[in-house]
Amino acid sequence: MHYGETRPEILKHNPFKAIIAPRPIGWIGTLDPGGQANLAPYSFFNGIGSNPDMVMFSSEGAKHSATYARERGEFTFSLATEALAQQMNITSAPEPSGVIEFDLAGLEQGAPIVIQTPFVAASPAALECVTLDVRQLSDRHGTLLERFLVIGEVVRTHIRDEFITDGRFDTVAARPIARMGYADYATVTEAWQMGRPKR
Ligand SMILES: Cc1cc2nc3c(=O)[nH]c(=O)nc-3n(C[C@H](O)[C@H](O)[C@H](O)COP(=O)(O)O)c2cc1C
Repeated sequence: MHYGETRPEILKHNPFKAIIAPRPIGWIGTLDPGGQANLAPYSFFNGIGSNPDMVMFSSEGAKHSATYARERGEFTFSLATEALAQQMNITSAPEPSGVIEFDLAGLEQGAPIVIQTPFVAASPAALECVTLDVRQLSDRHGTLLERFLVIGEVVRTHIRDEFITDGRFDTVAARPIARMGYADYATVTEAWQMGRPKR
């Protein structure tokens, strides 16, 4: 099977997100114009470089997170984990501005060091980010889309001490969750090793 713009009927839903899977979930904290905390998950999220560490998330529509990340020039990332899955989902509700999703989900706000935006205190790891760029995406014809790509540089990294084992962040112990297609999620439950080829 292959297709372009017109999907075969057998594929009731676009399988794109099920193919580009698993996707890490950027649990994005921002501050609204009144200084109230905003929190929402974004699975069009990834790290895009290291030293300096950089991340991106992409908003389908001009949602609060991308808007506030541009206006305030900063945002936070918190790692979404199995233990925090229900809370993460609660924060995805389309709440009006002024609703503090941290409170809605019963989440304590972690205190940032460099920027003003809080993160999820209970998360095993969180990143304070300075917004570098917010780009409105265009399609191949040059037509502007309601898609906003936010790029940030990490200025502070928070790790809960219990997730450091032998000097490493213990990803498996954190049990991060990732988004797949439809209503499917994946959990990181094991790791395996493979060395890079040597010349
Ligand atoms: C696991 C998960 C991943 C999501 N990923 C995205 C995404 O990548 N882009 C997007 O626009 N919305 C995504 N959403 C939906 C947003 O979280 C939702 O629209 C939310 O209300 C946006 O909040 P905000 O307006 O405060 O930014 C996702 C929802 C869930 C549950």
